[in-house]
Amino acid sequence: MAITEFQPADHEEENLSDECKALLLSFPKEKGWRTLHQYKFQGFWCQAAEIQSIMAFQNHFQSRDSDVVLASIPKSGTTWLKALAFAVVNRHRFSIKSHPLLTSNPHNLVPFLEYKLYANNQLPDLSTFAEPRLFGTHIPYPSLGTIKKSNCKIVYICRNPFDTFVSTWHFLNKGKPQSPMSIEEGFDMYCKGIIGFGPFWEHMLGYWKESLSRPDKVLFLKYEDMKEDGDHLRRMAKFLEHPFTLEEKRNGVIEEIEKLCSFDTMKKLDVNKTGIFLKSFESKSLFRKAEVGDWVNYLTPKMVERLSKVIEERLGGSGLRFKVFS
Ligand code: A3P
Repeated sequence: MAITEFQPADHEEENLSDECKALLLSFPKEKGWRTLHQYKFQGFWCQAAEIQSIMAFQNHFQSRDSDVVLASIPKSGTTWLKALAFAVVNRHRFSIKSHPLLTSNPHNLVPFLEYKLYANNQLPDLSTFAEPRLFGTHIPYPSLGTIKKSNCKIVYICRNPFDTFVSTWHFLNKGKPQSPMSIEEGFDMYCKGIIGFGPFWEHMLGYWKESLSRPDKVLFLKYEDMKEDGDHLRRMAKFLEHPFTLEEKRNGVIEEIEKLCSFDTMKKLDVNKTGIFLKSFESKSLFRKAEVGDWVNYLTPKMVERLSKVIEERLGGSGLRFKVFS
């Protein structure tokens, strides 16, 4: 699709059901990053169209114990996690040479519940999905509906807030080049928790606590650790009940999957260099730098001090710690 066909997301509220429009009137409202407004819904901030999708998901989605849910707050490495999990659970179906990840963006292989499957008031037919069904979501843990009640597996990817903020700011401004948000304004909103699916600390804590109390159900991965070594892949495969065999390990299957899903490989694929993603973004904007510690190039000492304080106040004592430099 040509870039000239991009539609900015500012008119999203026009396509809402009357029921959703009426509900929005009762929710706290703030300026949006990408859309005109965002709303506080079930304790987290999101856009009007997302609220409509999430309500449809909560009313209709029936989770199976065999499902795999890949969760994150935006810009934490969602695309990478989707690629890795898809490659792990489907490794006996596809060879690396003709792998679907070479010709499809990971978000098309592992659809979002809220942006794709239940978007625009549609109800998806999930009966054709191969088992285990893989879904992606940014929905916070407390709002996961039947997923919470089932024994399905959830893998959460978490990234340090400094890099997540910088990645978010770049990404959202790419989607609205005509009216970019200044880094100062975006940072202020981020620190106040007013960010899609945030506050970020609530989002992280929801999954973090569940991973501690039900480690068999929620695997909590950190982006920075994943950049450092391949152990996450072995852990994820075991958690998803698709452990690598000794023979696979000997034959270098782990390294093959790592390479297939690496930033360098994915960024260079034609499918990821062209095309659009979620209507208003170029797919290539999903692959920017993928560095740990890029925030040092953007945040002033005052900003660093402020966000450090927020992290200490909100997450101190939880046991959740971040690596912030490479
Ligand atoms: P940067 O903006 O810091 O480069 P999400 O997938 O949740 O939208 O997160 C996007 C971030 O993950 C971007 O970070 C992007 O570059 C990085 N990313 C994308 N693909 C990756 C991969 N295969 N490996 C590591 N990081 C990746």
